[in-house]
Amino acid sequence: MDFPSSLLFLVLLVLHLVLLSVAAPISSGAPSSAAAAEEEEDPAGLLRRAREAEVAEWMVRVRRRIHENPELGYEEVATSELVRKELDAMGIPYDHPCAVTGVVARVGSGEPPFVALRADMDALAIQENVEWEHKSKVPGKMHACGHDAHVAMLLGAAKILQEHRDELQGTVLLLFQPAEEGGGGAKKMIEDGAVKNVDAIFGFHITGDLPIGTVASRPGPIMAGSGFFEAVISGKGGHAAIPQHAIDPIVAASNVIVSLQHLVSREADPLDSQVVTVAKFQGGGAFNVIPDSVTIGGTFRAFSKESFSQLKRRIEEVIVSQASVQRCNATVSFFDEERTFFPPTVNDEGLYGHFRKVAREMLGPDNVRDRKPVMGAEDFAFFSEAVPATFYYFVGMSDGAIGLLQYTPHSPFFTVNEEALPYGAALHAALAMRYLHEKHGTSNLFSKGEVHDEL
Ligand SMILES: *[C@@H]1O[C@H](CO)[C@@H](O)[C@H](O)[C@H]1NC(C)=O
Ligand SMILES: [Zn+2]
Ligand SMILES: [Zn+2]
Repeated sequence: MDFPSSLLFLVLLVLHLVLLSVAAPISSGAPSSAAAAEEEEDPAGLLRRAREAEVAEWMVRVRRRIHENPELGYEEVATSELVRKELDAMGIPYDHPCAVTGVVARVGSGEPPFVALRADMDALAIQENVEWEHKSKVPGKMHACGHDAHVAMLLGAAKILQEHRDELQGTVLLLFQPAEEGGGGAKKMIEDGAVKNVDAIFGFHITGDLPIGTVASRPGPIMAGSGFFEAVISGKGGHAAIPQHAIDPIVAASNVIVSLQHLVSREADPLDSQVVTVAKFQGGGAFNVIPDSVTIGGTFRAFSKESFSQLKRRIEEVIVSQASVQRCNATVSFFDEERTFFPPTVNDEGLYGHFRKVAREMLGPDNVRDRKPVMGAEDFAFFSEAVPATFYYFVGMSDGAIGLLQYTPHSPFFTVNEEALPYGAALHAALAMRYLHEKHGTSNLFSKGEVHDEL
């Protein structure tokens, strides 16, 4: 194309400024007409709407802007502001702040029943290693878990729901939550009243281990409970060539680590999945000095409260007793358990049936899969302490090869396939809309004759 380069530069500059401007919402403005809304009320119609350029491309722009400015837990100030600007542009009311930077928006009648949809907003302390136009502009911080996409998809759902607000038989709460990555943001949202009177809550994670256009979940436990531990093993430092005058904490810590591995392999039921990983080992520094102490730390995972507390008790016992075998003392810390222990994420059976039905209508039966539980933990689990029914699922984004580095969360190469955004947005919206219709008991969206008592 023949285009004067200075003009091109100017155009690009203006475009750049528009995209960077924090104050201006990206929203394309007013919702579509009621007529357009009418024909899109079935799940497949909601997906068609989410894939239209007006919604899909806007979500991509939102996601990219958040990606460029990643913020860690409880520091999501600009992200939260962006969310509120977009909600303002759509005419959706919200409460802010909730849990420091969180936002709780409301679409619908304002009356019960209440159903909640949740997205996490925080980034990770990782240096992005992907070279692309919208690479993180903040050194050492990156949206490497896809929470930028989660925010964009919940805004997409907000837009679709707002277009159908007059049909909603109750209220959808949109939870933009801070600090999922170990900060206990969900717990703080609950403490701040975000899910008061909420009957059910849905959340999902985008994932590269499912093809795009597919979703997966299961009834019952889907993600593990998680805890962290740290231990200081103290001996007596000395010359590395005169070990008889020292008490070597390195050898003691090494034996502790080996003994910890027997908790899962020898004490746990092989059919009750558990993990103990020592991920931190720090001590010494010189080649010829036995240090005074060694610090080890790690994580443990289990699916039941019983297995979890059993592991916790035995981790402490094993560290202290095994260290004493080598004449060392040990102190074990589990940190602020209130914040750092995540309960297991357990899916409500009734909501599983609801999810399957709605997702199959939207995506086709073959694209709604069952999934094994994973040992990863998710602070969405906290909502089960405050909401009667919770449901968590996974939205696929892989475009072929599975398990690629680019789709590994928490990797500096992590990449989101933006083609997946409409699926998450539409499913959020469909699950909530249908839930309200069903809960209200006057569903006109269900095929006739079906009984829906599972909710
Ligand atoms: C372990 O603790 C005991 C009791 O406080 C103390 O007497 C001993 O010196 C400690 N041993 C080491 C290696 O720190
Ligand atoms: Zn993560
Ligand atoms: Zn995540």
